[in-house]
Amino acid sequence: MDNGISKSWPERVRIVEVGPRDGLQSEKQIVPASVKIELIERLADAGLPVIEATAFVSPRWVPQMADNAVVLKGIRRRAGTSYSVLTPNLKGLEAAIEAGADEVAVFGAASEAFSQKNINCSISESLRRFEPVVSAALAHGIKVRGYVSCVVGCPYEGAVAPAQVAQVAKGLADMGCYEVSLGDTIGTGTPTSVRRMLEAVGQGLPMAMLAGHFHDTFGMAIANICSALELGMAVFDSSVAGLGGCPYAAGASGNVATEDVVYLLSSMGIETGVDMDKLLSASAFISDHLGRVPASKAARALMAKRGHVTSTATCQS
Ligand code: HMG
Ligand code: MG
Repeated sequence: MDNGISKSWPERVRIVEVGPRDGLQSEKQIVPASVKIELIERLADAGLPVIEATAFVSPRWVPQMADNAVVLKGIRRRAGTSYSVLTPNLKGLEAAIEAGADEVAVFGAASEAFSQKNINCSISESLRRFEPVVSAALAHGIKVRGYVSCVVGCPYEGAVAPAQVAQVAKGLADMGCYEVSLGDTIGTGTPTSVRRMLEAVGQGLPMAMLAGHFHDTFGMAIANICSALELGMAVFDSSVAGLGGCPYAAGASGNVATEDVVYLLSSMGIETGVDMDKLLSASAFISDHLGRVPASKAARALMAKRGHVTSTATCQS
């Protein structure tokens, strides 16, 4: 779309759908594996190119992901969609390979306290532990993504220094991660703090290796994406219906909703390959199952306009 406004943003953005993992990992109610599988299949059908399907983490730490192998093995795979999973250690990686993961992710943090709470070790120990996971995955021909949590703020330590984020991100890239997703875990980032952080990380790594992962606790996620787009970022994580949070970041709300991101990007003429109608139907499906309306304002407005009628996700104009 040429709207005549000069653009400094990318022509195409890859959206990494993290709802089935980041979204459902902190749901209080147990979501049956069959519902997770149908959600993932609907998201793939909507054209999401990468879907983070589950996490091969300790079921004692995150019981919501205990059905990881059942979910991953149960998906009817769509050609061209990559199904990724979290793997904190070799045990998780082995199980993920056995269940057929296309892609895996290791996840560290820029805050010591969060690293301890989330994966039970220090930042330097986590990087040491990730090395064999990354090497083994690459030896199996499996791509590895790296996450850095708390890139702006930490629920335990407060503000996080951009230089610390840059150091952890570089560590993950140096060990072989093809992309590093920068997580504003508690959603305290604003366009100013996100820009400052990205400029620091961008000194050591090309923007093409970075992704934005913005939780929407303070409603700033879309503004943060705009700020990152202006710096050339072209990969964003999002969660259908704005599901989720983090079990180790109390009060943090879900990721920016995929519907909001697709609505924004399409208005800017940026290609995503996502079909909004099918995405809305996936959003209504999981929202109905959870008994609430989608957190996404764009989804609610579009559902009302398009007359989507579902049991709980009905939206009236
Ligand atoms: P630990 O207790 O230190 O690990 O946990 P351990 O090696 O001592 O093992 C303890 C027990 O866990 C053993 O079982 C292991 O076998 C088992 P036991 O012998 O006692 O019966 N175990 C496992 N079981 C299944 N799969 C595994 C696994 N590993 C060990 N992979 C560990 C360390 C990393 C395992 C644990 O802390 C953990 O699982 N943490 C995951 C926490 C998590 O999933 N958090 C949410 C995801 S991160 C996130 O949401 C942020 C992100 O979205 C970005 C952002 O928003 O910032 C990515
Ligand atoms: Mg997250």
